[in-house]
Amino acid sequence: MLQKFIFISILSSFIFTHSSCAQCLHHQKSLLLQLKNELIFNSSISSKLVHWNQSDEWYGVECDAAGNVVSLQLDDEAISGGIGDSSSLFKLMHLQKLNLAYNKFNLSPISKGIRNLTYLTHLNLSFAGFGGQVPLELSFLRRLVSLDISNDDKTLKLERPNLEMVVRNLAGLRELYLDGLNVTSSHEREKWSHIISSHLPDLTGLSLRDCGLSGRLAKSFSQLHSIAVLRLDGNDLSTAVLDSFANFSSLTTLTLAYCNLKGSFPSMIFHIPTLEILDLSFNELLSGSIPPFTRNGSLNTIVLRFTNFLGSIPSSISNLETLSYVDLSKCRLSGTIPTTFANLTELRHLDLSYNFFSGSFSSTLFHSLSKLVALDLSCNQLEGPIPDSLFQLPSLEFLLLSKNLFNGTFRLDTIQSLVNLTELDLSGNNNVSVEVGNSNSSACALTFLEVLRLPSCNMNEFPGFIKHCDLIELDLSNNRISGEIPRWIWGSRLQRLDLSFNLLTGLQKPYNIPTSLQFIYLHSNELGGELHLPIPSNVGSRTSELSVLSLASNNFSGSIPISLCSATYLRILDLFINRLSGGIPSCLLENTVILRVIGLGQNNISGHIPDHFSSRCSLEYLDLNGNVLEGKIPKSLKSCNSLVVLNVGNNKINDVFPCMTSSSLRVLVLNLNRFHGEVRCRNSWWPRLQIIDISSNHFNGSLESINFSSWKAMTAMLLDNDTDLQGYYYLRGFGATSGVKLILKGVEEQFVKIWDEFNAVDFSCNSFHGEIPNAIGDLNSLHVLNFSHNALNGRIPKLFGKLSKLESLDLSKNQLSGSIPGEVAELTFLSFLNLSYNKLIGEIPKGRQFQTFSVDSFKGNPGLCGFPLNIACTGTSTDGSDQSPSEHENEEDKEIGWQYVSAALGYVVALGSIVWLLLFCRSFRKKYFDMIDEFVEDILRRRTTRRATMTRV
Ligand SMILES: *[C@@H]1O[C@H](CO)[C@@H](O)[C@H](O)[C@H]1NC(C)=O
Ligand SMILES: *[C@@H]1O[C@H](CO)[C@@H](O)[C@H](O)[C@H]1NC(C)=O
Ligand SMILES: *[C@@H]1O[C@H](CO)[C@@H](O)[C@H](O)[C@H]1NC(C)=O
Ligand SMILES: *[C@@H]1O[C@H](CO)[C@@H](O)[C@H](O)[C@H]1NC(C)=O
Ligand SMILES: *[C@@H]1O[C@H](CO)[C@@H](O)[C@H](O)[C@H]1NC(C)=O
Repeated sequence: MLQKFIFISILSSFIFTHSSCAQCLHHQKSLLLQLKNELIFNSSISSKLVHWNQSDEWYGVECDAAGNVVSLQLDDEAISGGIGDSSSLFKLMHLQKLNLAYNKFNLSPISKGIRNLTYLTHLNLSFAGFGGQVPLELSFLRRLVSLDISNDDKTLKLERPNLEMVVRNLAGLRELYLDGLNVTSSHEREKWSHIISSHLPDLTGLSLRDCGLSGRLAKSFSQLHSIAVLRLDGNDLSTAVLDSFANFSSLTTLTLAYCNLKGSFPSMIFHIPTLEILDLSFNELLSGSIPPFTRNGSLNTIVLRFTNFLGSIPSSISNLETLSYVDLSKCRLSGTIPTTFANLTELRHLDLSYNFFSGSFSSTLFHSLSKLVALDLSCNQLEGPIPDSLFQLPSLEFLLLSKNLFNGTFRLDTIQSLVNLTELDLSGNNNVSVEVGNSNSSACALTFLEVLRLPSCNMNEFPGFIKHCDLIELDLSNNRISGEIPRWIWGSRLQRLDLSFNLLTGLQKPYNIPTSLQFIYLHSNELGGELHLPIPSNVGSRTSELSVLSLASNNFSGSIPISLCSATYLRILDLFINRLSGGIPSCLLENTVILRVIGLGQNNISGHIPDHFSSRCSLEYLDLNGNVLEGKIPKSLKSCNSLVVLNVGNNKINDVFPCMTSSSLRVLVLNLNRFHGEVRCRNSWWPRLQIIDISSNHFNGSLESINFSSWKAMTAMLLDNDTDLQGYYYLRGFGATSGVKLILKGVEEQFVKIWDEFNAVDFSCNSFHGEIPNAIGDLNSLHVLNFSHNALNGRIPKLFGKLSKLESLDLSKNQLSGSIPGEVAELTFLSFLNLSYNKLIGEIPKGRQFQTFSVDSFKGNPGLCGFPLNIACTGTSTDGSDQSPSEHENEEDKEIGWQYVSAALGYVVALGSIVWLLLFCRSFRKKYFDMIDEFVEDILRRRTTRRATMTRV
């Protein structure tokens, strides 16, 4: 959250030079005016160019005593287009400093005319949008002391001249900044350190971020004694030995983020006395412990985010009195937070999130950090009460304490003294009780407050003081707030509102859903009455940005409001488990270009499913289970080629088998309807299918027509992840509020999640006849198979023995004959078996698993004998002929079996308990959904909005 881009602040430290140009020669001024005329720039953004000639103020221009222009600072002037070779710029022959950084030259090349500016000492063309080959002419500027042509995305190429030619010709360079350049020669990318250090031994600043460099560091590199700024982020330095950096006795900035550094980091580097900025972030394999610190007068920034630093923070950190920015997030640090932090009075930003810090911290710990702006301690194991002293830090803007073990009571009105507070997050501390306190002021004391997250805080009322605050995000989920949702909640900037898992009964009227709102979670409340959604259809030129609407598990009645269709950015619609009636609005299905999830299960929706799915349908999840829909599956649904789940079970649909063409299909549920005819599809190919439940319909025909072997997910042939499917991730956790009902182990269970590795086939209660095809034996990842209540005949295939993950097998009430194959008895995980009411004969095999089944599993087969039936087998065993070899095989099977018994048991237990937890445990469900929500929102955010990056350091 608090990830900062310190580079930006470093990079953008350009000086706004403005000098009166009274002494510039007339001739020079007219050249400047010509230049102004030649350049294309946005005069509403420009702050210098635009004023030239308006008075005699020549902003960004400096002339020398003789009246010649020597410095031109035109950075960030919104200049676009290009600068031609004959531009007046190149007639300003006396120029020594030229700065065109941060403009928008749209990949036009750096002009060859630059060769005329032979007096240039400082040239800054960074992030100006230049593209193509760096011109050879640049390397003629032999007086250059500082060269910055850093750029994004390798748009500029160092080919001819290559790196060596530039540094060889420009031996006077002290500062060389080439971030993001495409160094095209692989030899140069390998030998860069030698090339640079052998030609530029007096370098003071070097920046080569994202240049695709690799290779060992040359010996000569350690002789860059004057180097002060060294930035090598984003190159592969995994083979580099960094020890020699400790000799850089003037080093002030060292940044090595994303360098694939491995092993331990030389602790000497922490002790370089001049060091101010150290960034080693995003080197996941960099290990070691943070060394003790000696007194150092300069270190102000340490960034170790996402490294593998272990152990505790040395208490000697208080020696670093100048520290202002500390990011130790996502390391593996532990222990208590040293009390000596109290001495770091310059600290402005402290991020210790995602570590293993534990213990409670004293109320004086952060007491004296009066400059602290951001404090992130989320995701640790900190315990005890949240100290009051935190709420007395006057500059605090970000206070993130989520996912810890804090407890005790906390009075919310205390935060009103934090005048600049922008974000407060206490989520995931399940033993914190928030008391709203006395807060009925008439104005918002916290004018900057944007984000307030207080889920699971045992609150029973809305905090009144936020009434007048203009929030962007409010999370009060999983509290005990009852009554109506007050009208003021719908603030005009609100983007995310989560009031799920409360005891709310209604919405105070009238209210409007602001166009800014993207995420609404009101599920699991007691909201009732007609569902009324005042989504503004078009306010001025703004449409609703609503992306996720979750109202599941409430008591809403009435019909699905048409106003939903004006939310054209809606991706997830979750109305499960309400009392909605009426039909499905066809405009909703027309919106499936954007809409990914439609969850209307467990309502009272009637009529036909409109045949209005968009021809560019990207629907992933359609759940209409448990309504009273009739008619057919609409033809237009076939254009939904990303469909992952189709659940229309438990309705009154009267149709033939729908041959869906989506190759993403994972779940197909048609049970308890009036489907009929054969299951036969010519062009369907469901390699990802995991759950198919067509039970309790009127299907008939033979199973031979079904291409079981093409269900690759069940044959364990396909292990892929469609990470692109938003709906899929959503439904994995959430769609489950309705869920896929399956008869598992003889009991009707609601499935709450589509398990990555859970596969089930349920064809029960139909009229299938003929034999069970051998192809079933290919589905060796199957967990549940139910063919009961059909008219199947023939023998149970021996190939059932290959279904090694099978937990539940139901073949009851068919016409199956012959003996039970011994292979079935060897299925290690089988915990439910029903073969009753068939025509099976012979002795029940004596597999280990079979000893646990009762009479019920076998009854109704007059020809069966042996345990557990009370019928002794007379005569000899039916398959007695190959008894001994099979015994031998069984021994081997057992040995192999035991190797994965424990792993598999773990899986079974985990599966069972998570299902249980999701069904019955409110707090777990909450956490689980939070996780899914975060994930979904993360995906949605990345796609739909670009939030301004926090760069306030
Ligand atoms: C560059 O300098 C030469 C003389 O040295 C001059 O003839 C030419 O016009 C200059 N180019 C530009 C673009 O001003
Ligand atoms: C760098 O330049 C080479 C040669 O022109 C080109 O093949 C390569 O794609 C470029 N690399 C990037 C990342 O643009
Ligand atoms: C921290 O500050 C206290 C006084 O505020 C001082 O007594 C103590 O020596 C300091 N500790 C360090 C390690 O500087
Ligand atoms: C609050 O923020 C403003 C603007 O950033 C700043 O000027 C002011 O000093 C801050 N107040 C405190 C108490 O830090
Ligand atoms: C908070 O947790 C600590 C242990 O971490 C316990 O000693 C203390 O009693 C708890 N306080 C409350 C109010 O639950």
